Amino acid sequence: MGLTAAKIEVLRQRALSVAAKAYSPYSKFRVGAAVLLEDDSVVEGCNVENASYRLTTCAEQTAIAAAVALHGPALRIRAVVVVNLNETASQPCGACRQTIHEFSSPETEVFFPAADGTLTRCTIADLLPHAFVLEEN
Ligand code: THU
Repeated sequence: MGLTAAKIEVLRQRALSVAAKAYSPYSKFRVGAAVLLEDDSVVEGCNVENASYRLTTCAEQTAIAAAVALHGPALRIRAVVVVNLNETASQPCGACRQTIHEFSSPETEVFFPAADGTLTRCTIADLLPHAFVLEEN
């Protein structure tokens, strides 16, 4: 069952609020992510850059790390809404797709900014087919 438009809008507003807190002095790209968990709670994150560049943490990863710290390792993600304050299209990077996948079901929904100002809507399985999984031996 997909999210309602009202629920998506709540998540979008939460993501916009946290995007204003982004630490992005290098790219000036301010990103926010709101993660809806199976228990209906929401956890937000913003991108946190670093002078070494490669240590930058994306908004999605910050949000998911915060969610694990708050809710523990069993949490499951229903949806992720990503926004930016730069009024441009942006897609979750490959690393974030794998991070979302870790806590998702194939139906987990991901929303991210399209060029026309709307949110592109898809599932994590659409975004990351053939995700890496470590099977237990
Ligand atoms: N970024 C995110 O936080 N999430 C995305 O979905 C796209 C990219 C960040 C990483 C970096 O701080 C800046 O945006 C530019 O790539």
